[in-house]
Amino acid sequence: MIREATAPSDKSLMNSVSPLRTEGWRPPAPALRSNLAIGLRILFQRSPDLLQTLPRDCYTKDIVTVPVGRRPVFIVNHPETIRRILIEDRANYPKSDLMVSALSPLLGEGVLISSGELWEHDRQMLEPAFMHMRLAHMFPDMREAVHDFVERLQLLETDAVVDLESELTHVTADIMLRTIFSKPIGAERADAVFEAFSSFQKNSPQFQLQHVLASDPHKPALPGAELMRDASILRDLLAAMLDERLGLNSQGKVFVDFAQAVIDARDTDGLPFGREKIIDQLAVFFLAGHETTASSLSWAFFMLSQQPQVLEKMRDEIREVLADRSFEFDDFKSLRFTRDVFRESLRLYPPAAFLTRRALHEDQFGRLKVPADSFIVISPWLIHRHEAYWPQADRFIPQRFDANGSAPLPGTYLPFGLGPRACTGATIAQLEASLILCEVLRRFSFVPLNAAKIFPISRVSVRPADGIRCHVEKI
Ligand code: HEM
Repeated sequence: MIREATAPSDKSLMNSVSPLRTEGWRPPAPALRSNLAIGLRILFQRSPDLLQTLPRDCYTKDIVTVPVGRRPVFIVNHPETIRRILIEDRANYPKSDLMVSALSPLLGEGVLISSGELWEHDRQMLEPAFMHMRLAHMFPDMREAVHDFVERLQLLETDAVVDLESELTHVTADIMLRTIFSKPIGAERADAVFEAFSSFQKNSPQFQLQHVLASDPHKPALPGAELMRDASILRDLLAAMLDERLGLNSQGKVFVDFAQAVIDARDTDGLPFGREKIIDQLAVFFLAGHETTASSLSWAFFMLSQQPQVLEKMRDEIREVLADRSFEFDDFKSLRFTRDVFRESLRLYPPAAFLTRRALHEDQFGRLKVPADSFIVISPWLIHRHEAYWPQADRFIPQRFDANGSAPLPGTYLPFGLGPRACTGATIAQLEASLILCEVLRRFSFVPLNAAKIFPISRVSVRPADGIRCHVEKI
């Protein structure tokens, strides 16, 4: 049953937590404010960030409706309803028109934003790309990219100031390009990618409240010129690399990577993807695969820098499991605490903070009527911070995920989404994150220079508003 007034408060749902003396520190997040306070902010502050426009109700109730705007908006925190939208009744809830129109200049008809039969067809063709064997085969390329990252950090002067997020975007973009095309990204390309992506995110309308409220599902807004320019810079880069690959294939060269998996994919009639469609899917892998991991790692490194006892526990584990050798594919399973730190970072700062859907036909959430074309928001950001499901929800407590804690209630932990449209790259993302955390933290500490000013904003992923400027200390 949906409780509209307050959320379920059954304490038995909560997983027990034995804190590691981290409860005194609250990682940066907007304070919970009343509807009135938020209303005034929306009225008087030009384009406040979406995370700043969520009143307390959004963090405490099962379902919140937004009473202004030209279409009904439902923010859904109720686990069973979330499961229904993302699993049982998903045919009625395709990706939102806003998400599709914001991302299609970059992703075309890629699998992240396609719907219905087209999505079923393409997703089935892409399934083999994510087989465990292929990941194991691609792992040395990932490790090479991290090795280059570590070398770049080694070469820094003691007083050098780096922007953590751009460094991590560089290494995760490098990993994605190596796993897609089996070749590294040069510094110049990395800078161009970072700039185009930052700009693409800034110009992306789906994360601005006024666009959500003013949007008409039957007349999607045309993307702005800047968004189109950023998208075409990124697509041109992928197209050039694809053409290089097709040339090498025609000379008989063989590769085991994502690009080859997409080129070689066949549907049940034996038909391959066309060239534009290959670029669409590679753009999805690239967008979905590097930006998200960079964002979650930025928050993980930042939180570790503020919580030395958690960092030390992690370093103890790294010393115990790896001693002096480098990280191997199977180490991921043994580095449990490292994995829990990353899980907790994904809980507090889920890169995909808002999963948005459109109701095709009228529906009912409990007693609430949901008209056709309603805008549905399932927010990992909100449900991960919901006190009914997460004790000390706004604190950084990695051990809530350890073997002594009970598993989160289904539908309350969604960093990778849920159901048939959940992230295909979840394993690779967690492997990559453990690899980067271990190889960096066994050698360096990041020391933020603007720690008190770090604050999250919502773009394509949740990012620190003004970056995280750091000194890098060798240990
Ligand atoms: C920390 C890293 C990552 C996070 C948090 C993340 C999160 C997500 C989420 C939440 C979705 C579902 C979106 C929705 O339901 O609207 C998704 C879909 C997807 N992700 Fe990821 N992702 C990550 C890394 C990756 C990587 C490394 C890859 C590929 C190499 C990848 C590929 C995809 C694809 C292809 C989809 C679309 C699945 C479909 O609709 O069939 N992701 N991701």
